[in-house]
Amino acid sequence: MQIKVVENYEEMSRAAADLFAEIISANNDCVLGLATGDTPIGLYNCMIDDYKAGKIDFAKVKSVNLDEYYPIAPDNDQSYRYFMNKYLFDSVNIDKKNTYVPDGQAKDTDAFCAGYEKLINSLGGIDIQVLGIGRNGHIGFNEPGAELHPYTHLTSLTDSTIEANSRFFASEADVPKHALTMGIRSIFKARKIVVLASGEGKAEAVKAMLSGNISTSCPASLLCLHSDVILICDKAAYSLV
Ligand code: PGA
Repeated sequence: MQIKVVENYEEMSRAAADLFAEIISANNDCVLGLATGDTPIGLYNCMIDDYKAGKIDFAKVKSVNLDEYYPIAPDNDQSYRYFMNKYLFDSVNIDKKNTYVPDGQAKDTDAFCAGYEKLINSLGGIDIQVLGIGRNGHIGFNEPGAELHPYTHLTSLTDSTIEANSRFFASEADVPKHALTMGIRSIFKARKIVVLASGEGKAEAVKAMLSGNISTSCPASLLCLHSDVILICDKAAYSLV
């Protein structure tokens, strides 16, 4: 894993956006793997700046998102579909028909998950995937536990994730208890993975990810097995390594 330690959130976001711009410029119908949460918002802002500056063009770009709460409606302002529209898609010239976020209202979740996996394959795989890390070391909604699932699946959120995400909801009781998420193998299909971490709150997770031990108790630690991963983190997130 390549590691780049930068000063702060703004530098992390710019460095990540430069990698995305490189991929999009080299191949204007590339497939982006996108994530939600506080971490990638700065990256998306930089991508919007790059689009407005004429540096990148999203007309043919396709995107696949990592995960979505379940159940949730796409127009719920806490859904990840809503998030993506708000923080990126509404501000660039991407065709929303080419943007895929797991369906938080899927009736048959098994069929949906199998179809999502096929979709990723039919797009030719993901060229560049951005990932945040949960405070508990999760990636997507692949939560720490005895086992991890390889492919897109329905999962239960851990209490710590529900608590961490309750800041966006009226109360902890309102946080959905389940999610649809790409699995570790689906994430590993990406040709390049960019992991972002900012702030002291991520320092333990970054330390565990880089400990050298690969364990399902820290799903992010598995990223050490992928051949093209870059961690871009700020000094605070790297402070315990
Ligand atoms: P955050 O979440 O970016 O909101 O910290 C990251 C994650 O939980 O994957």
